[in-house]
Amino acid sequence: MTTVISNEEIERQRAFAKKVLRLNLDRENPPTAHVHTFGCQQNVSDGEKIKGMLAQMGYGLSESPDGSDVIIFNTCAVRENAEDRVFGNLGALKHEKRRNPDAIIAVCGCMVEQEHITQRIKKSFPHVSLVFGTNALHTLPELIYGQLTEHKRAFSVPKSDGVIAEGIPIRRESKITASIPIMYGCNNFCSYCIVPYVRGRERSRSIDDVVGEAQAALRNGAKEILLLGQNVNSYGKENGTNFSELLRRINALDGEFRISYMSSHPKDASKELIDTIAECEKVTRHFHLPVQSGSSRILKLMNRKYTREDYLEIVRYIREKIKDVALTSDIIVGFPGEMRKDFEETLSLIEEVRYDSLYTFIFSPRKGTKAAEMDDPITEEEKGIWFRELLAVQDRIGTNMYEKYVGQTLRVLCTGLGRTGELALTGKTPQNVIVDFDGESELIGKFVTVKIEKALNWALLGKIIF
Ligand code: SAM
Ligand code: SF4
Ligand code: F3S
Repeated sequence: MTTVISNEEIERQRAFAKKVLRLNLDRENPPTAHVHTFGCQQNVSDGEKIKGMLAQMGYGLSESPDGSDVIIFNTCAVRENAEDRVFGNLGALKHEKRRNPDAIIAVCGCMVEQEHITQRIKKSFPHVSLVFGTNALHTLPELIYGQLTEHKRAFSVPKSDGVIAEGIPIRRESKITASIPIMYGCNNFCSYCIVPYVRGRERSRSIDDVVGEAQAALRNGAKEILLLGQNVNSYGKENGTNFSELLRRINALDGEFRISYMSSHPKDASKELIDTIAECEKVTRHFHLPVQSGSSRILKLMNRKYTREDYLEIVRYIREKIKDVALTSDIIVGFPGEMRKDFEETLSLIEEVRYDSLYTFIFSPRKGTKAAEMDDPITEEEKGIWFRELLAVQDRIGTNMYEKYVGQTLRVLCTGLGRTGELALTGKTPQNVIVDFDGESELIGKFVTVKIEKALNWALLGKIIF
């Protein structure tokens, strides 16, 4: 069962934050904290809450762990290389702890929701003094207070189907894009995926809380509202609303801004939702619709609950209703039992759909998931060859897809300084495609109209019209 954290509990944590603040104000030098977030937008959003609470406790935020009084690793468990990276970084902190024995080194996030990981940290990383799970995030003030006053190792990973905690302070990473989680957890249990085990059951925030947060962010100058959830299409199932209604309510708020969202599961991408997106002019013309594989046989083994044909029908309907849409996707190469002919079906699907871009992954077995137990006869070397083949095919498709924007005049949200060198600014088209153009830095955070002049394979180049 989902636990909604009470206002009293949030108040209690606020009181702990004040106590920590008082301790920190007594210190000679103002204390600093470093937060390193790994993984997806959901984790980035948790990182913003961690930073919000640390600021409330009087910590200045530092870009580097060196010399920081609190170091927090907010971790991701989705693939083995994500976990390896965390362990590598944690190992390197041993020297930091030797230099600064009072530093509080903490690990939180998805990795520590796995018992074997917490055991490994307990045994092999004695310099880590605090571990807290995703359901204990809101108790950070109490945990830090405990560290400062008791100096004992603490492991707080409560068993729970998941919590919803409102009223935690947030330190947003971006002034332009406000990331707003609308739901947490996942019930889909795709056979390869660890997320349902580490993030608990699906639970939605109230529609008024989400709309209120969007309104506040817009008042503070945000120009993009990014709605987050592992499967945003399931939003509101338990509280009588749905994602379409949420989009319509946010779309009706005043001002020029964009609404983006991620991720959507194809099994729940209903025609009603696609119609709503088509009608709501502030919603991005971008659908990130992870397909994972082009083979219905593999999709069944993955427990995705749609076939290749179902997926292609959704794509057809999206393209019919939203003419200027950009499609992107996630693909897993080398799922256990995937044969060359299954992989070729993935290649033929991407040729048919013609995605603007793809996020591609080689299957990584995750302990506790069904797929980790399945026979996997294809070698890593073979998977690597398929993977590079997929990248090459998408590279060609992506460049061709970007060519179609050349000559178009598009409304672009200017997000920062450009990366292409000669052009000073960068922004996003309504399709979420990156475009670089010349202009003064006062335009950052504003909408401008840009004529697209050239396509690269990862971005567009253009010129401001007004
Ligand atoms: N909930 C989202 C969805 O279903 O589209 C995505 C969640 S997951 C964090 C992001 C992507 O990681 C997935 O779409 C999948 O392609 C990939 N992924 C998840 N588990 C994986 C695994 N065990 N090995 C390789 N890739 C994986
Ligand atoms: Fe993982 Fe599937 Fe849930 Fe996405 S929908 S988080 S891939 S289990
Ligand atoms: Fe990773 Fe957790 Fe996100 S496993 S991808 S950080 S939900």
